[in-house]
Amino acid sequence: MTALKGKHIVLGITGGIAAYKSAILARLFVKAGAEVQVVMTPAAREFITPVTMSALTDKPVITEFFTANTGEWHSHVDIGLWADAMVIAPATASTIAKMAHGVADNMLVTTYLSAKAPVFIAPAMDLDMFAHPSTTANLKTLAGYGNHIIEPAAGELASHLIGKGRMEEPEVIFSVIERFFGDTAELAGKHVLITAGPTYEKIDPVRFIGNYSTGKMGIALADAAAARGADVTVVAGPVDVKPTHPRVKVVKVESARQMLEKCEDLFDETSIAIFAAAVADYAPAEYADTKIKREHTQVPTLRLIKNPDIAKTLSSKKHPGQLTIGFALETDNEKVNAAEKLASKNLDLIVLNSLRDAGAGFGTDTNKVTILSPAGIIADTPLKSKREVAADIINAILKYDPFTH
Ligand code: CTP
Repeated sequence: MTALKGKHIVLGITGGIAAYKSAILARLFVKAGAEVQVVMTPAAREFITPVTMSALTDKPVITEFFTANTGEWHSHVDIGLWADAMVIAPATASTIAKMAHGVADNMLVTTYLSAKAPVFIAPAMDLDMFAHPSTTANLKTLAGYGNHIIEPAAGELASHLIGKGRMEEPEVIFSVIERFFGDTAELAGKHVLITAGPTYEKIDPVRFIGNYSTGKMGIALADAAAARGADVTVVAGPVDVKPTHPRVKVVKVESARQMLEKCEDLFDETSIAIFAAAVADYAPAEYADTKIKREHTQVPTLRLIKNPDIAKTLSSKKHPGQLTIGFALETDNEKVNAAEKLASKNLDLIVLNSLRDAGAGFGTDTNKVTILSPAGIIADTPLKSKREVAADIINAILKYDPFTH
């Protein structure tokens, strides 16, 4: 039984090369037990035929307001109300603009304007069109109306140029929707704040102190918390990984100080804060405005100052009802060190990673953790994917949080 069984999905297809991938997307929805109603723009028919789409979905495809020979009226209002979700994939720059401004000159945009269900938009266009300020502004407007934008990926485009604008793969779009319906509500209405990735501490305009953290664990935790209904903000250092859950927002920062500042702005409204970032402990005492040259200088000495401890600073301001969770990356005497960090940083729980465990730690797709509360070990996971470990950590937090009982 999948989360999509019996769900009504309106699949909107617009006129872009990526429309051929909509056939795969429709197939995935149907295979998962959903009913799919395809609505195409007139331009989409130039890229994939209605016959293909109706054969895959077992329903006539709608492209016009009327069926020409019978005069049968297609009610966009009825389709909009029937939908449990509307997915527009691919969404061209033109359709995105029309949706943002209510230009209801085709069946797809009128259906969108009548839809009461959540709407997911997967843009697909050339890199320059995607980067154009008007497209950025239109997507921002649509996101502001509560629509979920499934960001395009970077890669080779139909124009053979390489850049961002390629529609996300059907499997990814499918998993975003599946995840949305698979959500549970234990954390509904709660804000979760997560720090993730490394921090970069600038030495000069071209150099920094950093570390190998990729942010995978933090982003996996963000998706896992959102799947339990939370509104999640990730404050991330320089990372490439992206969350897939539409309820996760990422705020990018660079240094530990910037990370602390952003977290401080968000902490008051936060119910649960998880500090998964590998924050640099030290930053250069001085920043050189111009590149430090090899000639003309003696071998420079890098003087360091201590960075703020984000977990400790925020945990010391905790008010009743707020939970803070830290990570401890240890190489020896692991449990004792982790328990000490838990106490000294005033955390409620700490997730211990041992670098002695193969497959755990920076950059890997797997992890193995032990979760400690002030009373001792509350959970222990075998080596699993970071996504599964993230779900286990959120489960442990839910069990621990007295307010969700
Ligand atoms: N942490 C933080 N700010 C810092 C350093 C650490 O928020 N400046 C958080 C991490 O995100 C993690 C926890 O504190 O949740 C422990 O991080 P870790 O690097 O293991 O501990 P440190 O306090 O830096 O101790 P040490 O490096 O000496 O083990």
